Amino acid sequence: MDSSKLSVPVVILFLASVVPLISCDTVAPLCCFSRIFSFGDSNTDSGNNCLVNSACGANRLPYGETYFHKPSGRNSDGRIIVDFIAQAYGIPFQPPSKGGSTAEYFKDGANFAVAASQALNNSAFKKLTNMNPWNTDSLSTQLQSLKNLLPTISQGSSVSAVMASSLFVVGEIGGVDYIIGLANKKPMDEIRSWVPSVVDAIISALNDLISLGATTLIVPGNYMFGCSPWFLLIYQSNNTADYDNFGCIKSVNELSAYHNTMLMEELAKLRLLHPLINIVYADYYGAQSQLYLNAQTLGFAAPLYACCGVAGQPYNMSLRIGCGSSGSQVCPDPSKYVSWDGDHLTEAASHQIANGILYGPYSFPPFLQTAQTAKQELGSGVRQYLK
Ligand SMILES: *[C@@H]1O[C@H](CO)[C@@H](O)[C@H](O)[C@H]1NC(C)=O
Ligand SMILES: *[C@@H]1O[C@H](CO)[C@@H](O)[C@H](O)[C@H]1NC(C)=O
Ligand SMILES: *[C@@H]1O[C@H](CO)[C@@H](O)[C@H](O)[C@H]1NC(C)=O
Repeated sequence: MDSSKLSVPVVILFLASVVPLISCDTVAPLCCFSRIFSFGDSNTDSGNNCLVNSACGANRLPYGETYFHKPSGRNSDGRIIVDFIAQAYGIPFQPPSKGGSTAEYFKDGANFAVAASQALNNSAFKKLTNMNPWNTDSLSTQLQSLKNLLPTISQGSSVSAVMASSLFVVGEIGGVDYIIGLANKKPMDEIRSWVPSVVDAIISALNDLISLGATTLIVPGNYMFGCSPWFLLIYQSNNTADYDNFGCIKSVNELSAYHNTMLMEELAKLRLLHPLINIVYADYYGAQSQLYLNAQTLGFAAPLYACCGVAGQPYNMSLRIGCGSSGSQVCPDPSKYVSWDGDHLTEAASHQIANGILYGPYSFPPFLQTAQTAKQELGSGVRQYLK
């Protein structure tokens, strides 16, 4: 299936790279994959954590209220970014990998993301940070789950044919590795020193997928997690110099941007090694920055407040009382908020970010460009996508 993508006439590819694509989701599917496999943490999890952890918050209302009208195991009021990517490609949502085992269950692919997953495996994380990981499903564990499933999914056809006709969304992942350090108030310099290892773990997963036959991989960078109410509370300060012009925690966003810069550099090297593979960097950070920059126009009336949290607290957020537990309230209109529960995005914010990478300028190379075109633009284009 992917070969049809590569044979799109050059003139269309040229136009796609020059004419800004319109920012809406009524555009025809971006063509053509049989299924999607995604990996990541709570921002991408479509229910895995709730299948194995009965204390998870995302299996109770108001989680899911906006789109599914019931909890779906997603850490949002509705759809998450990978859902919007699936819809853009005309593919049904990916079920959580832990929820089934048949070829039928996985006909549209699988979502391997688990809340609280790190990019680094547990032993590497412990060794590097001297702290305990939050979860056993690191990126390499998620990858192993895919490998275990491939014989079931490919039934009859070859594994490499299945890989080649699939779209891979590898991330966002790595945020948790840093967040564990931030939550434990580790010095920022120490946390920044972990970035090369975290990026290496992501690159190693991409290499694995490519050697199994993957041909198109979307690799998201990190979010502006310095804007999430959770960090706004933890890093609350009387010093205005600690905040950026959006009112977010500067040092935390700088950590995220540092990770993204290094990830982009390593992706550029990977593209040179694999010139025929589509490796797309998805700039979640850049797309998210537009939500704060254009908050009024986009209708985000309270961009730094939690929609679901505790009224009267700063940012209507409490570190003790989670969304959905007693003592929490939910806002009447989640579409006016970027943050759903103080720690994860609303459906409205996810939708805007997905549009920014699918139809806007927040992916490199832009969607629908061939690997060959991407190769020519390397060097000049990579950095401009990071704000
Ligand atoms: C964990 O990751 C490190 C570094 O990437 C690697 O050397 C090691 O083999 C991995 N360990 C396990 C148990 O997968
Ligand atoms: C800010 O200043 C006030 C008054 O000096 C103090 O009580 C408060 O603890 C300070 N808050 C932080 C986060 O430093
Ligand atoms: C904070 O919560 C209260 C109670 O739900 C609500 O009235 C108020 O509008 C909220 N503030 C913002 C900025 O969302």
